[in-house]
Amino acid sequence: MSSVLIVTDEKELGTILAGKMEPKYGFQGILRASGTEALSMLQILPFELIICKEKIGVEFTAFKVCEYLITNKDDFDKEIPVIILGKSNLTGYARAEAIPANLSYDKILAYAGFLLGKEKIKPSLEAPPAPEPKSEDRTTVFVLPKGGLKAEADKAPEAVKKIVSKFYPFHVRYLMHLPENVKVDFGIYTRMKKGDEFEYNLKIPAGNIVSKADIDKLLMRTSKDLYVTKEEAAKASEFLNKFFIEKFRRSDLDIEKRLMINSDGFEILLESFKTSTFDKFSVEIIKEMVKSIDTLMKMPDGLNQFKNFLATHRLSYGYTHMHFTCLMIFSIVDKFEWGKEQSKNKIIYLSLFHDLCLGSDRLIKLHHKFFEQKNLNEEDKQSMLEHANASAVILENIVKAPKELTSLVREHHGIKSGKGFADSKSISIASLSMAFIVAEDIVTHYLDMQEKLDGTKDRVPSKEALTAYFSDMMKKYDKLTYADAAQAYQKLFL
Ligand SMILES: [Fe+2]
Ligand SMILES: [Fe+2]
Repeated sequence: MSSVLIVTDEKELGTILAGKMEPKYGFQGILRASGTEALSMLQILPFELIICKEKIGVEFTAFKVCEYLITNKDDFDKEIPVIILGKSNLTGYARAEAIPANLSYDKILAYAGFLLGKEKIKPSLEAPPAPEPKSEDRTTVFVLPKGGLKAEADKAPEAVKKIVSKFYPFHVRYLMHLPENVKVDFGIYTRMKKGDEFEYNLKIPAGNIVSKADIDKLLMRTSKDLYVTKEEAAKASEFLNKFFIEKFRRSDLDIEKRLMINSDGFEILLESFKTSTFDKFSVEIIKEMVKSIDTLMKMPDGLNQFKNFLATHRLSYGYTHMHFTCLMIFSIVDKFEWGKEQSKNKIIYLSLFHDLCLGSDRLIKLHHKFFEQKNLNEEDKQSMLEHANASAVILENIVKAPKELTSLVREHHGIKSGKGFADSKSISIASLSMAFIVAEDIVTHYLDMQEKLDGTKDRVPSKEALTAYFSDMMKKYDKLTYADAAQAYQKLFL
């Protein structure tokens, strides 16, 4: 029987196309999930047709397949037609044709049938309109505003847009994700305080090929922030984000690598919230991070694996705190009546966003420990008091999050308005907020105990220390969901 090769990582699409190919048209459908796998098939079997996604992960799959067909054309007795599922055919292969990837499965199948000579009429290949997001879809938080983020940011309150200057900051973490010897076509600056002004110094001129050694040298001599000019900011953002976002899509991400990249992503987001350089790429990072956190949350025994990881590795404090909190809530949520109705996605968004407006790892750490707030300057004090509300405002204005989620973000310190900190255990907030508050408190103390073990071989708090802590903690949280959650958390540690 002749065969059709289907190359896609979308399970449902692949299975339907491969499954229907034989009963409908009498061709065997062979499914492969990457360009590399497709090439091995092309070496051993003849095909009548190839259906191939334009891009799978970071691989330009259609390009790879077509390039193979062009270079090895002598091995084939005829030119195999290729249907590219995607926007464009830039492969240079004459028999390839791109069709919209969001066509219905039936249409893709019918077009394949047409090319195979089994259908008389060519189906219409016009792309269907993108579906309107459903407001009741509890797992989708992102709905991009009409006119894009920029339009929405322009409408946002003053607190959201602070920065308009000649230079735009970007986080050094981006540079660590650039490949070796890459050409950078924008200038990279550092800055120094000169009186009341800043002086910007060009460190890497546009057009330079940058090696890892250059980056190391630059990082040794600079603080956290690097700058680009306003004119080159958009270009730089696209360039730097492209390499960073690709890292999330690598197929070889184990738990450790995933945690590291999540932590870098968190720091980058924190910076973009602080400097209001939030753009469409920040949205991409958020989406990738939510997916990535979700993957980690689904791993069996995730909480213990994370504790083991922390014993020997370090991540940013903010990311460590939020990931730990999220894991703890995931571990107990299904045990409670109030928890059964919670979407997991909402818990991830709450964990990821609630402290982002603090803008720095230092403030995130400080604000979890009330007793260390004395020496703050006015600006820091203000950020601390306002951060819950400010994070909720950003979620509302830029990300269009549902009300349910923004009110959880607002009340994560026990006060409904999101301004200030509750000094007693507030009873007028959602059960999930109470469970969140207890989880954050435990995480803060756990990380504190761990910090005190710095310098020892493995940084694991002893059973005695944990027992003593939990017996105190249980007294503090003695009512309502606070008490239920505290008890459930205790079981995770002791
Ligand atoms: Fe927090
Ligand atoms: Fe907070």
